[in-house]
Amino acid sequence: MSLLNESQKEFYHNNGYLIIRDFVKTETCHALIQRASELMNTFDPTQFKTIFSTKDQRHAKQTYFLDSGKAIHFFLEENSLDTQGNLKFAKELCINKMGHALHRLDPIFKEFSYSDRIHALTQALGITEPTILQSMYICKQPLIGGEVTCHQDATYLYDEKHSIMGLWFALEDATIENGCLWAIPGGHRLPLKSRMKRNGSTTHTEIYDHSTWPLEQSIPLEVPRGSVILLHSLLPHMSRENSSPHSRHAYTLHVMPKENTFAPDNWLEPLSEWV
Ligand code: FE2
Repeated sequence: MSLLNESQKEFYHNNGYLIIRDFVKTETCHALIQRASELMNTFDPTQFKTIFSTKDQRHAKQTYFLDSGKAIHFFLEENSLDTQGNLKFAKELCINKMGHALHRLDPIFKEFSYSDRIHALTQALGITEPTILQSMYICKQPLIGGEVTCHQDATYLYDEKHSIMGLWFALEDATIENGCLWAIPGGHRLPLKSRMKRNGSTTHTEIYDHSTWPLEQSIPLEVPRGSVILLHSLLPHMSRENSSPHSRHAYTLHVMPKENTFAPDNWLEPLSEWV
């Protein structure tokens, strides 16, 4: 039996997103948060200080970012460094996200990412044999969690058929105050606005459409812990700054039907050993 009913599938196809509550057990959310904390403790900020910013994409020119498809790398919040370049807070409160091969390299995240339940979810939306392209653990830190500007995931992860789907697991409650996702319902019918491509050891972005997003149509996707939000690769979405004292931890996967081709000029070079 399919994990989704017909009205849920129809909602996804009409709106470009779908929220499923109570998808992840609370104890699993806790276990993933705990594991992420252990991984973040291994981060040595004296080695790499790469800020993740969707405003100026400065990270995208750095080898540490470009190599992260095959690793678990750590990226900092824009407001986590002082003028001398030192961390302003404890390192676990400065990390914006970890990525992009948690699903392959860490046993706890691997077990979760390749679980039968997630496989069944992708199958319900027509991805019979999913390839997991990347994974991210996103912290959205209290008070300094930065804005993620409106974008389509296909800008960063492109396949000709726009068949890549994002799965966004809320490991903590996501609210307007702590920077939940916002999306433009039905916006997946808009054309692709831009593409970021790898160019050797750097990247460049091609703009196809300079018009602004119809942000007045965007709605907040507030969800309780344990929910998953499915996102079409062309759906415009974003998140605001976290000005609250509460973190908003989330784990994300991007999957593509195995039979489709991941564009070789994507910035991401996934691990070749795909499952
Ligand atoms: Fe995104």
